[in-house]
Amino acid sequence: MSDLYLRIVNTPVGKTAAQTLGLPAPVPLKRLKRTDQPFIEGNVLVGAASGGKAIAQLGSILSASAATVHHASGIDSLNDSTKAGNKARPMDLGAESEQKFSALVFDATGLKGPGELRALYDFFHPTIKKLGSNARVLVIGQTPASCRKAPHAAAQQALEGFVRSVGKEIGKKGAIANLLWMAPGAEKQLDSSVRFFLSPRSAYVSGQVVKIGKSDAASATNPVAPLTGKVALVTGASRGIGAAIAETLARDGATVVGLDIPPAMEELEKVTSAINGKALACDITDDQAPTLIGDFLEEHFGGVDFVIHNAGITRDKTLGNMPEHFWDMTIAVNLSAEELIDEELRHRDLLKENGRIVCISSISGIAGNFGQTNYSTAKCGVIGYVEAMARQVKNGVTINAVAPGFIETQMTAAMPITIREAGRRMNSLSQGGLPVDVAETIAWYCSPASNGVNGNVVRVCGQSLIGK
Ligand code: NAI
Repeated sequence: MSDLYLRIVNTPVGKTAAQTLGLPAPVPLKRLKRTDQPFIEGNVLVGAASGGKAIAQLGSILSASAATVHHASGIDSLNDSTKAGNKARPMDLGAESEQKFSALVFDATGLKGPGELRALYDFFHPTIKKLGSNARVLVIGQTPASCRKAPHAAAQQALEGFVRSVGKEIGKKGAIANLLWMAPGAEKQLDSSVRFFLSPRSAYVSGQVVKIGKSDAASATNPVAPLTGKVALVTGASRGIGAAIAETLARDGATVVGLDIPPAMEELEKVTSAINGKALACDITDDQAPTLIGDFLEEHFGGVDFVIHNAGITRDKTLGNMPEHFWDMTIAVNLSAEELIDEELRHRDLLKENGRIVCISSISGIAGNFGQTNYSTAKCGVIGYVEAMARQVKNGVTINAVAPGFIETQMTAAMPITIREAGRRMNSLSQGGLPVDVAETIAWYCSPASNGVNGNVVRVCGQSLIGK
């Protein structure tokens, strides 16, 4: 479904009208065009608070990009920025400059107490207005739970509030801000997440906090097709977000098994045959579904690397008016089936080493929604499931969730126009996301280099004003 307002407001007449009337003027988001595209181009400024542990790694990741990299200089609190390495040129933040930035990247891991938060102001105050359209702000901090002293935890937790507010200030430029909370010693695990959040792949992800843990698992990567040799199961793959997930994982090299209900077979086969995948007809709420899925994956591939629980339904009614089968079906498809399928695959050892499980939650599961007690219950349950499972998975397996906001699909196209328009505009980027935005986030989770990304719930919502 196309966003007519977005197109009109980006014509010269539309722009002037929006300015005069004080209406939102969303900037078209730049998404990935080619898989061999550099993850970031233009001028990137990197900086670090004293004692930053990630700055050397950031310098090394950025030196492999197509960007011109600068490091902050001229300010005492940012002296450790020089650790970004020789490829980063010094840039005096006190000097007048017309320089525009495609990204501002800040290592805040060294912040030990509230007094040191001033380094954030020192780095971002002179530079934030110089962000170009579709730019990136990325802050690296240390997981507050790993800080023993309260002032240390306070400073690291404070980064979340900072990044969420920055996201709201820069969204009008189509720019995004995110935070990576690194566990001590997890510098080597930053690579795939830094690349994702600086790249056009994260176009609709803003105001998010991702925990990155230490991991020993191998992380060999082929940047153009990082999922080569892997097998993915995608449920609900015949249309919408599921079809985009199947296409994106196949684009990145995976062999995809698309699953959907028998009546959706014609549509599903169109999707899977275009990507040389396989189609599996199955209602995931059938008692025999976990066995059938396990048998199929065992017979054709000897197991599976990625399990993407995308299939979902809504059956909206206010609670007092809701028939019981609305409640039961919604919980069964959106929540119970995922657990039963995973249990079968794990029990039969079909989920391969370094495997990935990805579940789909929803902003409704975080904020609640009128007429969706059943759906919000199920989608919130998904979060609990992911967080608990993240503590149990072994063999390099990770489990994470995405929580989409307003995504342009058949589901949202069917909404009444007033609700649809409100859903589209009530986020920092003032527009809806596309199915590919959810799919790109899942592809990042699936990357072999994302082995430290476990137990996260990332909202793909353009930083929706609703919920946390
Ligand atoms: P959709 O309705 O277009 O696609 C869902 C797919 O799941 C369909 O192909 C359907 O046939 C399949 N499915 C439903 N029940 C099934 C069952 N019992 N067994 C097997 N397959 C089944 O939905 P859309 O918009 O693509 O959503 C995909 C996921 O994202 C869902 O989990 C949804 O709840 C979630 N989501 C979507 C949002 C949006 O804005 N579109 C927002 C938040 C979450």
